[in-house]
Amino acid sequence: MEVVHLKNMINATLLELLPAQETPPSHLHQAMHYASLGPGKRLRPLLTLLAANVATDSHTLRMACVSELVHTASLILDDLPCMDDATMRRDRPCAHIRFSESTAILASTNLLNLAYGVIANCPNVDASTKVAVSAHLSHVIGSMGLVGGQIADLQNQPVGNKSEIEQLYHQKTGCLFEFSVVTGARLRGMGAEVIEALTRFARAFGLLFQLYDDMLDHSAFAQETGKDVQQDTAKTTLLSLYTPAEVRGALNDAQALAREQLRRAGHDDSLLAALVEQQFVTFNGAAQRLGS
Ligand code: IPE
Ligand code: IPE
Ligand code: MG
Ligand code: MG
Ligand code: MG
Repeated sequence: MEVVHLKNMINATLLELLPAQETPPSHLHQAMHYASLGPGKRLRPLLTLLAANVATDSHTLRMACVSELVHTASLILDDLPCMDDATMRRDRPCAHIRFSESTAILASTNLLNLAYGVIANCPNVDASTKVAVSAHLSHVIGSMGLVGGQIADLQNQPVGNKSEIEQLYHQKTGCLFEFSVVTGARLRGMGAEVIEALTRFARAFGLLFQLYDDMLDHSAFAQETGKDVQQDTAKTTLLSLYTPAEVRGALNDAQALAREQLRRAGHDDSLLAALVEQQFVTFNGAAQRLGS
């Protein structure tokens, strides 16, 4: 199975899960479609499908889309004038610009609400798995996860400590990757050791991904991203704390850790391992272009 086919299935499932655009309140539903179906990478749902050993049955697809609904909700909020005040997202004007701020906020809220509904209403998943997935999601969205990471990011208090920034990266980015892979493992009934290894993998992968995102933000080639750039240059990030050699070292260390944990989870030669290696090539390419 090719990743592009999985991505098409994810897009078709998102379309199925979202309320129809013409259903009232149609303006709100249009905003949800606009934000959710724009040209994103769909990396989080892909991770769920691949961690579930490339499962493509309808309930795994639905559960995989939960992280994408939450991710899109977080991007809508992140772009608002009171947060990053962005203008472009996924190659298009941000939701609050295409619609209105109030519609964007309500679309984001309803995407979060939909995410929990998708879990609760998913057929062919037993109740105890649904409870575990919901509890995990609540932790990941909350003040120890995305919301906490976002508020710390916006406050941008001076931090001199790398481990504090690494924790911030985990909250902003890594914890939703963790939710994605762990949900895939849970749906396949995988044991505690696999879940623990995937959790450690996701922490390392999240660090790499946010470091890469920061590199794009800092760089002149960031126009390729389809979103605003130079937004975080005044913030303390690993890029502002590390020398280029340290960035290189951090990339190598996190990649080695991610590979080791993937192997522990039984992914030494899987499509998940291949996707991750492909991402590493992208991260390393960006570091090279930045001179790290
Ligand atoms: C952007 O995530 C926000 C971060 C967590 C860095 P992605 O780079 O996965 O965005 P899309 O989904 O492809 O638009
Ligand atoms: C990403 O932070 C974290 C989110 C959960 C939105 P950024 O502010 O760096 O994300 P982008 O660069 O706008 O996608
Ligand atoms: Mg931000
Ligand atoms: Mg932003
Ligand atoms: Mg960014």
